[in-house]
Amino acid sequence: MAGRGGVILAAGLGTRMKSRLPKVLHPVGGRPMVVRAVQALQGLGSLDQLVVVASPENASAIEELLNGQVEVVVQEKPLGTGHALMVAEEALRSLDELILIYGDMPLLRSEDIQFLLDAVRKAEEDGPRPQAALLSFDAPSPRGYARVLRDPQGNLLRLVEEVEATPEEKAITEVNAGVYWFRSVTLWPVLRRVKPSPRKGEYYLTDVFADLVQGGHRVVVAQGSDHRSFIGVNDRLALSQAEAWCRQRTLEALMEKGVTVEDPITTYVEEGVEVGPDTVLRPGTFLEKGTVIGSSCIIGPGAHIIASRVGDGCRIWYSTVEESQVGDGVTIGPYSHVRPGCHLEAGVEVGNFAELKKAYVGSGTKIHHHSYLGDARLGPRVNIGAGVITVNYDGYRKYTTEIGEGAFIGCNVNLLAPRIIGKGAIIGAGSTITEDVPDDSLGIARERQVTKPGWAARWRKAQEERQKR
Ligand code: UD1
Ligand code: CA
Repeated sequence: MAGRGGVILAAGLGTRMKSRLPKVLHPVGGRPMVVRAVQALQGLGSLDQLVVVASPENASAIEELLNGQVEVVVQEKPLGTGHALMVAEEALRSLDELILIYGDMPLLRSEDIQFLLDAVRKAEEDGPRPQAALLSFDAPSPRGYARVLRDPQGNLLRLVEEVEATPEEKAITEVNAGVYWFRSVTLWPVLRRVKPSPRKGEYYLTDVFADLVQGGHRVVVAQGSDHRSFIGVNDRLALSQAEAWCRQRTLEALMEKGVTVEDPITTYVEEGVEVGPDTVLRPGTFLEKGTVIGSSCIIGPGAHIIASRVGDGCRIWYSTVEESQVGDGVTIGPYSHVRPGCHLEAGVEVGNFAELKKAYVGSGTKIHHHSYLGDARLGPRVNIGAGVITVNYDGYRKYTTEIGEGAFIGCNVNLLAPRIIGKGAIIGAGSTITEDVPDDSLGIARERQVTKPGWAARWRKAQEERQKR
């Protein structure tokens, strides 16, 4: 025998979810709960084996999700958590120690499990060798959890499941989280002695503790402090609570690193997003996976940033930025859309109602007022006037537009791609440009104006006389 294994129980019916999707496959923070459980165990970095107990309904989905990282054992019938572990015995028999968690604890972190293992190590130093350990916590609302019963000296007596508890026992707020450590040699014989419970007829894993204690074995109970880590998701209400706490924790971590979050209720930041110190996240901000924001930025109100890198000192408000790279000191918004594949250099200004797609924009370039730049390459210090459009699509293919350093594109200009506008060139307002314009040249393509003095007055007079007739 050697090593330490991890087990995740994930074969329950999840009937309280009232869902066609198996419970442990429901996502929290964008990751299915069972995947989160696996990652929490893997985060310990010390497991020789990882087993998930699945139902016939969800086994193949779990296998696919975790492609080969874990061994999946099928529990044909959900006869209880004790039974689920019995089913996994064969797969786990060679291991010295086991860590067991449930698949419906989406906010459990590696550090929470490590806290239990540390308590075991400490106990080993100061007395008889512990044979099992569990995490408990003081629940603000203990409904649904097993209560921890202790003797007057504070030693563990047993765990009592809520459905089996008396009103006095139900009043206890110290509950069983569902995170355990076992020494295998002691566990297996005790597990085999578990009998179906009186009320539900299930084999409760939690029954092993009374047996262990009565057998004179030392059981460590470690009390966790952040109750949010231990939420067990049994229904949709708990699912939404878990989602909210997940979000809250992500924001708290950012605040600890020096980010201001003006309104946590309306700020959605996915796990793994990075934000630099002294950046302010204003209300209505959404930062999605893969996003990295620099320091001293003002993001929001109303910013939606997806898988993008944003430099320092940027301001982005009432705008969407997707899969793009944004340099230092860039301003975007209000009401602009930076679509995938853009790269904005330092100091670029993207203003009211601008749309960019696959555009490289040199430093200091200004793009304001109702413009569209797609498949474009703009040099530094270019000025894009109101209503400038790169005509990049002919219905079949996309073409590119290049605009040189310091060029000035007047209002309402169509640039028919493929097109090159030279450095320092000026394009007259209202032009539809169908030929390249060399450096420092004027490109203008519009009808010459005709002015007829007095014409308007004569026309009005004629109309008035017609009406009199
Ligand atoms: C369980 C614990 C309870 C604890 C609580 C913490 C038992 C008997 N009860 O209660 O002490 O306070 O979690 O959240 O262990 N499962 C199987 N096979 C089965 C039954 C369940 O794999 O036959 C799995 C489920 O998929 C789930 C986990 O075990 O992921 C826990 O089962 P669940 O029915 O949610 O137990 P609770 O009533 O929440
Ligand atoms: Ca549960």
